[in-house]
Amino acid sequence: MSDRTVAPNNLEAFWMPFTANRQFKSNPRMLVAAQDMHYTTSDGRQVLDGTAGLWCCNAGHGRPKIVEAIQKQAAELDYAPAFQMGHPKAFELAARLAAKLPKPLDHVFFTNSGSESVDTALKIALAYQRQIGQGTRTRLIGRERGYHGVGFGGISVGGIVANRRTFGTMLTGTDHIRHTHDIKRNAFTRGEPEHGAEFAEDLISVINLHDPSTIAAVIVEPVAGSTGVLIPPKGYLKRLREICDQHGILLIFDEVITGFGRLGTPFATDYFDVVPDLITTAKGITSGVVPMGAVFCSSDIYNAFMTGPENMIELFHGYTYSAHPLACAAALATLDTYEEEGLLTRAADLASYWEDAVHSLKDCPNVIDIRNLGLIGAIELEPIAGAPTKRAFSAFLEAYEKGLLIRTTGDIIALSPPLIISKAEIDELFGTLRDVLNTIQ
Ligand SMILES: Cc1ncc(COP(=O)(O)O)c(C=O)c1O
Repeated sequence: MSDRTVAPNNLEAFWMPFTANRQFKSNPRMLVAAQDMHYTTSDGRQVLDGTAGLWCCNAGHGRPKIVEAIQKQAAELDYAPAFQMGHPKAFELAARLAAKLPKPLDHVFFTNSGSESVDTALKIALAYQRQIGQGTRTRLIGRERGYHGVGFGGISVGGIVANRRTFGTMLTGTDHIRHTHDIKRNAFTRGEPEHGAEFAEDLISVINLHDPSTIAAVIVEPVAGSTGVLIPPKGYLKRLREICDQHGILLIFDEVITGFGRLGTPFATDYFDVVPDLITTAKGITSGVVPMGAVFCSSDIYNAFMTGPENMIELFHGYTYSAHPLACAAALATLDTYEEEGLLTRAADLASYWEDAVHSLKDCPNVIDIRNLGLIGAIELEPIAGAPTKRAFSAFLEAYEKGLLIRTTGDIIALSPPLIISKAEIDELFGTLRDVLNTIQ
């Protein structure tokens, strides 16, 4: 058996995802264990997790209930076919999730990742429009700087140039509204920005350009995470909802990062009091422990498909691992952990302490904006002239050396710790980050 505390001596074969492979392999950062708020590195150091892994380990690491549930499930029922067969935990989990959703959302389609959830939601939206006699509605509208994973559907409605430009024409019939990021007017806003609700009116322009009868759905992240934490301006999401309602367009919230307590409510839909037609989730559904995703929709959408002969498959879509028994066991134990520890609302209790802490970095060198909501924070740095992303990447490397895991995108540092973080750990996180910002060029 290999010694897991020793770094492997051949790093070549693994083509790492979204990673600067050559940089990494010349100076690897290897994590070998995790417990609660900390990772252990291969050289035996403790690193404070400022990012809940990749926005997913909301209950922290190594949580006993989740670990035990997976162990037990693997021994009891390792796999059950996902098509034309079921297993009890899949139904139990769907019912428990449905009970947490705002009405009228009450049905759950299981996937294995955020990207699959997005593709599933887009496909359900297209198929639903056709089911209700609106088959001309085939366009899908996304937003600049949106991230919806890496499937062809997700990158087509997504708005990150680097994720799109090398992959051909993607889906046809997509369009985008503008992003809402507006440092000039909103820099250093605490919480939701005052300015920018009018960006929602972009949707009217797109509707007028294409005609509403051609548009199936609009997809947005309630809070855009991957492009640097873009908090929606006050009133923006409500206005998107109104416009969609007026024109028979489905609204999809991509809650892959905001779902499961990130904002201090179970979902962002609760926080903003705006209910979409479909919600995509993943990550926090199992606290990141076993890959899983889910799409939530209403009975109206579900029932629109429950027509035709009863022996016919109603939706020709699904994955071999939809509702995998291990994922269901992990998700049920994760929900238990969230409920027992009040984690789906804990961010609300910590939000003002967190907000003060993140904004305390305002006087650090090169900081041009700070943003926050729930247990999310972002520190935007002035890019080095001619070397965009270099400053934030240096901060990432320096933070790791100093025992803190942060995430960077462009020249923005994004923070999203596990929801179990203590006030002392928040102090430690921002103390380290202050040192980092004072150290790097
Ligand atoms: C909003 C959003 N949608 C989709 C995804 C894709 O999820 P996955 O990497 O599980 O496919 C992510 C991942 O960060 C995300 O933030």
